[in-house]
Amino acid sequence: MATNRTFTMLKPDAIENGHMGKIIDMIIEAGFHIKAMKYTQLTEGQAKEFYAVHAERPFYSELVAYMTSGPIVAAILEKENAVADFRSLIGSTDPAEAAEGTIRKAFAESKGRNAVHGSDSDENAQLEGAFHFSEAEIF
Ligand code: CMP
Repeated sequence: MATNRTFTMLKPDAIENGHMGKIIDMIIEAGFHIKAMKYTQLTEGQAKEFYAVHAERPFYSELVAYMTSGPIVAAILEKENAVADFRSLIGSTDPAEAAEGTIRKAFAESKGRNAVHGSDSDENAQLEGAFHFSEAEIF
């Protein structure tokens, strides 16, 4: 069932490079409502669990090291057609392939250090949101 919600993280490179405010602005300007948000840093255990689906990939240890290297902003966003619309807003995983006007085109450094995460399905949006937020933290 479509929830009209998606989950995002502004990744360590985006924070480190000073793009937090601009990215949040682009998200709000695109019509997403912030239902929950926190500034936090993932532990190694959390990053491994969050990216468990990629555990067999060659970039897994690099991904875990990168995602724990500094603070992130985690958020639950709401909008009609949230998952698909947010993936359009962020653009392709590889910034070299991301469309003009997308967040990754503007701010991502590389396929690995790609500034933002966006859930790839309603089911994952629900799981990922619940991974980071309790019901009392969602408004
Ligand atoms: P995201 O799609 O948010 O979630 C999986 C992440 O794995 C992806 O963003 C990138 O940060 C990372 N990733 C995907 N492909 C590669 C790759 N080829 N090399 C390094 N990191 C990658």
